[in-house]
Amino acid sequence: MTLEEKIGQMNQLDPSYDSEAKEALFREGRVGAILNGVEAKEVNRLQRMAVEETRLGIPLLVGRDVIHGFRTIYPIPLGQAATWDPELAEQAAALTADEAVSVGIRWAFSPMVDVARDPRWGRVAEGYGEDSYLASRMAAAVVRGYQSHNMAACVKHFAGYSASEGGRDYNTTWIPEVQLRDVYLPPFKAAVDAGAMSLMCSFNAINGLPSSANKHLNVDILRDEWQSDALLVSDWGSGMDLIPHGLCADRKEAALRCINARMEMDMQGNLYHDYLAELVAEGKVKERQIDECVKSILRMKYRLGLFENPYVPEEEPIAYSAEALALATEAVEQGTVLLKNNGILPLNNKEIQVLVSGPLADQQKEQLGTWVFDGEPEHSVTPLKALRDMGLKVSYEPGLQYSRDKRTSDFAKAVAAASKSDVILFFAGEEAILSGEARCRAELSLPGAQTELLTELKKTGKPIVLVVMAGRPLTIGKEVEMADAVLYSFHGGTMTGPGLANVFTGKAVPSGRLPMTFPKMVGQIPFYYNRLNSGRPCADDAVLMDDIPAGAPQFSIGASSYWLESTVEPLFPFGFGLSYTTFAYSGIEVTKNGEQIEVSGTITNTGMTDAYEVAQLYVHQCSGDLARPICELKGFRKIFIPAGESRTVSFTLTPEQLGYWHEAKKGYESCVWYATDKVDFKIWIAPDSRCQTVPTIISFLN
Ligand code: NOJ
Repeated sequence: MTLEEKIGQMNQLDPSYDSEAKEALFREGRVGAILNGVEAKEVNRLQRMAVEETRLGIPLLVGRDVIHGFRTIYPIPLGQAATWDPELAEQAAALTADEAVSVGIRWAFSPMVDVARDPRWGRVAEGYGEDSYLASRMAAAVVRGYQSHNMAACVKHFAGYSASEGGRDYNTTWIPEVQLRDVYLPPFKAAVDAGAMSLMCSFNAINGLPSSANKHLNVDILRDEWQSDALLVSDWGSGMDLIPHGLCADRKEAALRCINARMEMDMQGNLYHDYLAELVAEGKVKERQIDECVKSILRMKYRLGLFENPYVPEEEPIAYSAEALALATEAVEQGTVLLKNNGILPLNNKEIQVLVSGPLADQQKEQLGTWVFDGEPEHSVTPLKALRDMGLKVSYEPGLQYSRDKRTSDFAKAVAAASKSDVILFFAGEEAILSGEARCRAELSLPGAQTELLTELKKTGKPIVLVVMAGRPLTIGKEVEMADAVLYSFHGGTMTGPGLANVFTGKAVPSGRLPMTFPKMVGQIPFYYNRLNSGRPCADDAVLMDDIPAGAPQFSIGASSYWLESTVEPLFPFGFGLSYTTFAYSGIEVTKNGEQIEVSGTITNTGMTDAYEVAQLYVHQCSGDLARPICELKGFRKIFIPAGESRTVSFTLTPEQLGYWHEAKKGYESCVWYATDKVDFKIWIAPDSRCQTVPTIISFLN
């Protein structure tokens, strides 16, 4: 390959911009990959230029933001995480790949595996929540799903993007190595171990150094430590961003910084295209560096079989198969979290008069959620439609037209309809555009006049089932109090309606569990379950604002860590979710078997309804070289237990799983190698991160 041909491979373009000028580039072999452009015909046309009109005939990589479905849209990734069912996510990814590949897309820019502890950040919607173990399981599953069905995964955003200060997108992150290794990197490692064919750099500066120029991440960790040969692509123009970041004076310098940090493909930045040859001529870049990058690109093209088969059939594409729609429905059922129920759910009586209200009850587009380029709203089945199709007696008065609507003019109609109904199903939340990239919020309340409408409906005295469809956790304490039952369904995708209707009527039992802590108020953020305890954890007798007498003198005794407006209690904890039945945990045994720890317990369905339970394995290290989180998820099982029956769950823990990054030693410490003589761990199985089943203490002696 000539130097120009190599550099061409490193260039990724969106052909829809400036399309005429770009045609020549394809014919000259100056483009290695495209993004966007979904028509099979168009993909083939561009591919023909690359394959038939260039000297080497190297096919293009065709990428697209396929995030949580292609035509059939599944719940947003955060909602998929709420299923605690990686196999379901894997299957959804596989069916998504079938749809996308059928129009020529071979490279999905997902999964996004950024662990997110701040719901203000709009992109929490795109990831798998605040826990790195859950996110790791989902990450590996989605990679397997795509790649077993001919579509390469692109794991993003490498790395540390989600810890942005203030929850504001693209903002700086400061992440000590211990936290980077223990919290933010594990899902990337899991995805790489699952064979992910590519990764994407992140936009942000991490500890002052943006990822596109970050040799520590891209070479030391990804290549040297993890031995990954996956392709590393920039994010959209993230190389050029080195200029506003304040790292480089101009684009040429940015190109140099990026290649030196082994950013291998430049997405829509034209940096390599414009400057790499010059930098090689000047001796600033070695051709060997370019060869390394091009090898990754060609390897991925080989792995995808593009050299044998660069074109896609132009017949009827795959979309909305019965299998995909059924799985999308199941994902809603399994990922919807029941947060409160005073017994109103399920609605067993088909004869009751139901008022459907709220701004999200019949919004085909909004229920799809963020990052939907190819899903078609006309295929969405809304809750209103699904309830009517089920033959329920339904009246409909939304009261508000969209989530930010502040007009109260339709309230009276909704209240009048409520008075004539037996139950109110109120669909609240956020429109799709309020979460996702760059859609960060400084407040997390329900937008518009939704709370006011709910307050008016409450005055009718009719029972209220509140359903929240949103891209993130919201601070809904007040609304939860007003409701008789609360379901949190995130944005559920194409089949939101049928999935929720099955849950309302008891045809399906909600089995979602929260993948993020729900704060009571924004001021508690960042607020995540696996935080450190502090030396002065919140005391039981913490004195809140209104309890302090006027003129109270300064005091320093008995002070503990909390806020004057709130204790360190969330609205709902990580891992939480109710069911239409109840479960009892018993016989939890923790034993040492050599260096491994065996954990088992019995879970009994003590109610009248068959249902899934999510058993969660938590650990806490009581002493050791470093302070460790108050609890950490180390395993989970989602199991179906018929009413009245019991099931045993068991887990094996290795010393490595109990270890953590040891900065002084620059390596992961297994717990059996700690400097202290004895290390105690508390280990327990529980239905959520706050639930106190009795932990067993296990000691390791050094
Ligand atoms: C920017 C986003 O950060 C990234 O997630 C996405 O895949 C690319 N743009 C391509 O659209």
